[in-house]
Amino acid sequence: MELLLLADEQESMIEQYLDRGRMFVLGREKARAVCVVTEEDLCTLEIKNIAVCPEYQKQGLGKRMIDFVVETFRGQYEELLVGTGESPLTVPFYEKCGFRISHRIPNFFTDYYDHPIYECSEQLVDMVYLKRLFL
Ligand SMILES: CC(C)(COP(=O)(O)OP(=O)(O)OC[C@H]1O[C@@H](n2cnc3c(N)ncnc32)[C@H](O)[C@@H]1OP(=O)(O)O)[C@@H](O)C(=O)NCCC(=O)NCCS
Repeated sequence: MELLLLADEQESMIEQYLDRGRMFVLGREKARAVCVVTEEDLCTLEIKNIAVCPEYQKQGLGKRMIDFVVETFRGQYEELLVGTGESPLTVPFYEKCGFRISHRIPNFFTDYYDHPIYECSEQLVDMVYLKRLFL
């Protein structure tokens, strides 16, 4: 949960997808990275949460996790979605991992979270969706 909260700071929101998702953990004695994916429809898998321990960030583990998900589910789904805040900490990471911006849900963070969320001093408002094909 400590790792999951790095990516999604409200536990009640995490609980909404944890039960219906599949979780992958990288690391032996200590979890270094985690990822939760859910089936949204027969063609679409969604990354609901991805997080790397702060001391292991920027060493390629997040990208390895995405590549693992793509390899694991290739042939089962057509597209991989991920939703995130409009943040310089996440959008460029997903673009580096082959995602492209698809659509947005206006006011997602202000409507569904019980407190304002800030990243890099900016309040998150819309949820930005990025998409990658399972090619
Ligand atoms: C976002 C996160 C999962 C990225 O994982 P990571 O292991 O640090 O990223 P990687 O080292 O695998 O980076 C892959 C590529 O993206 C780039 N990248 C990563 N973060 C970046 C950023 N903030 N800005 C620009 N590029 C970035 C890396 O430089 C690397 O590029 P390269 O392939 O050219 O070397 C990680 O920072 C994290 O856990 N953050 C906190 C939780 C979080 O915000 N999760 C996402 C919620 S939507």
